[in-house]
Amino acid sequence: MTTVKQEKVRKHYDEISDKYDHHYDHAKGRCYHIHVSKHLMQMIPERGFLLDIGCGTGLFVEKYIADGGTAVGIDISQGMLRQARRRCVQTDFTAGTGENLPFADASFDAIASLLAFSYMKDPEGMLSEAYRVLKPGGCIAICTLGKKLLTRGIPAIYQLGDKLKINHVAAHDFGEHYFNEEEMLELFTGAGFTGVETNWCSFAHKGLIDPLFKFAQRVEPFVERRLPQLAYNICVKGTKPE
Ligand SMILES: C[S@@+](CC[C@H](N)C(=O)[O-])C[C@H]1O[C@@H](n2cnc3c(N)ncnc32)[C@H](O)[C@@H]1O
Repeated sequence: MTTVKQEKVRKHYDEISDKYDHHYDHAKGRCYHIHVSKHLMQMIPERGFLLDIGCGTGLFVEKYIADGGTAVGIDISQGMLRQARRRCVQTDFTAGTGENLPFADASFDAIASLLAFSYMKDPEGMLSEAYRVLKPGGCIAICTLGKKLLTRGIPAIYQLGDKLKINHVAAHDFGEHYFNEEEMLELFTGAGFTGVETNWCSFAHKGLIDPLFKFAQRVEPFVERRLPQLAYNICVKGTKPE
C-alpha cells in the first residue's frame, strides 16, 4: 500500500481552503456534494450528535445541523477549519487527524466522513478510533472514491498533474488509498463494526460539460442501482454493537 503524504495533504488544503467552496458549493460541484451528502444522510441517524471526520469547510455539518442534529468536526487543515467556523459559527471544529481523535470514548451517535477517507495514512487506525468514540448502537458512514476499473488510472493522472504543476482542488499525488467493496467490508468488520453495508454513488462528475452533466445526473439513480460498476464513490455504513 502507498504511504499517504499527510503533510502535503495538509499544506494543499490550507492553500486551497478559500477556493474549495467555489468548487463544491457552486454550480455542478454543489449538485455533486448535495448528492453525496444525501447518500450518507440516509445511512446515519437524524438529529443525533455527529462527528464529521475530515469535515473540510463544514458543508456536511451545515446540512446535518439544518436537519435538526448537532455536530462537531475535525480536520487536519487549519485553513479548511477557518472556513468551517465561518459557515457554522455555533459549532466546534477541532484541528487534528482522523487517526487520533481527541474525544472521549462513547461520545457520538454517528460519524460521517465525506471524500476524506482516501487521505487517511492509517485507515485501520481511523476506523478503530471511530469505533472507540461512538456510543454503543451508534453508526459510521463513509463516502470515498472507490477502487475499480474506472478509477484505476486516477493515481497516474494525479502524478502527471503534479509533474505538469496543474493546481486542481483535489487532484494531486498524495499517495491516497482507494479500496474496493471487499476491502472496505474487511476494514469495517476488522474494526468491530457489524451490519456493514456498502453501496455505490456518483455518476455525474462535476468535470463533465453540459449537456453531458445534465444527462449523467438524470441517469445517476439508475446507474447507482443497476450499473454500480459505473459509479465511482463507495459508501459504507457500520454499526457499533450495543
Ligand atoms: C476533499 S476534502 C472533503 C472535505 C469535506 N468532507 C467535504 O465533503 O467537503 C478532504 C478533507 O480531508 C481532510 N483530511 C485529509 N486527511 C485528513 C486526516 N488524516 N485527518 C483529518 N482530516 C483529513 C483535508 O484537510 C480536507 O479538508
